Amino acid sequence: MGSISNDLYPNAAMPLSRKENGVPLYRPGLKVESYNDFDPLRHVIVGIADNQHIPEACPASNEKIPADSPMRGSKAGRRTQESIDQANECLNNFASMLEGRGIIVDRPAAVDWHERIETPDFTISSGFGCMPPRDCLLTVGKTFLMAPMSFRSRYFEYLAFHDLAREYFESDPECIIEQAPRPRLADESFRMDYVAAYEYLSDDETMARSLRKEYSTLETDILFDAADAMRLGKDIFVQHGLTTNLAGIRWLKRKFEPQGYRIHTLSFRDNHPIHIDATFCPLRPGLMLLNPHRPLFDGQHEIFKKNGWEIVEAAEPAHKNPPPLCYSSVWLSMNILILDHKTVCVEATETAQMEQFDKLGFEVIPVPFRDAYAFGGGLHCSTADVYREGTREDYFP
Ligand code: ARG
Repeated sequence: MGSISNDLYPNAAMPLSRKENGVPLYRPGLKVESYNDFDPLRHVIVGIADNQHIPEACPASNEKIPADSPMRGSKAGRRTQESIDQANECLNNFASMLEGRGIIVDRPAAVDWHERIETPDFTISSGFGCMPPRDCLLTVGKTFLMAPMSFRSRYFEYLAFHDLAREYFESDPECIIEQAPRPRLADESFRMDYVAAYEYLSDDETMARSLRKEYSTLETDILFDAADAMRLGKDIFVQHGLTTNLAGIRWLKRKFEPQGYRIHTLSFRDNHPIHIDATFCPLRPGLMLLNPHRPLFDGQHEIFKKNGWEIVEAAEPAHKNPPPLCYSSVWLSMNILILDHKTVCVEATETAQMEQFDKLGFEVIPVPFRDAYAFGGGLHCSTADVYREGTREDYFP
């Protein structure tokens, strides 16, 4: 892999490496703890766009690129400096706004992802980037967990968070740093025939496969991306799909259920089920936002209904298409960062979504972010929780 150094991050809004003589710094009072996506946010990681690459297609990523996405056909190589600068402007402004509200913001460490990745099992043209942190990092209570990751290009992404994790470990005596089992991501890990056929399948065909739960990722590895897990106190809902397999969900169960958590599997009628945070998003206790184009599988509403949760459908996105070279769909409109039960950050052009939140009683903070979308997603994707106030509640007794 490439080297790690501050010089790689000329645009960084704040110091990236907090080591002194190679020793991670101790930050007094730092706390790692978070149980959901809506309690008062106090400390967060915001991604950074520098050095990002578009890796050549890999078996896991191919299927994840929606049919209407300009990424289909793969344009491998370094992203242009102009697009990196524009994305960093969004990310840095977002970070400063959060800091202005008294939230501590950390940025990932610098990694240059340009070198070819080779392991005994696979090789790929380059890494991906330090974005979006939500895909790799899952804070469950005091556990700061790095996910296995299902794209070959993202195999080494944990390096971007390595120094921060060391620092959290040194600073909070109760914080547990954990790396989930590393996958092999060999050809045997994927349905290679599906990958080959994929370019020619219609949306109806990919939907039919998805409804049969036949994904390009097999059960060979233990796989999950952190962004497939939605934390609601004692309950964690995990989307089974292209980036998370059943073995991954079993691993999360075995890891967290002995600590009093309950792990649930969710499936949506989505022909590219990847990452839950543009599909089903908790807004505050008792209120969920659902993508109207991606209904839950039959029976999966039950646990929410039985416990008095309201599920509202998200407003229509403002845009007909995602921006160029974007991996995600227009539904990043509902990919929001909640600061507390009354305050939500929404992408600044998403007027209908902002109005909906206004009617639901939220103070809405518009955040210009479309220029960062191509780097891995919206406001939720681009962040990862370090600390939110609040305790582990039982919302589904
Ligand atoms: N699958 C989602 C969509 O295209 C994108 C989710 C992105 N989320 C993330 N954490 N990277 O609608």
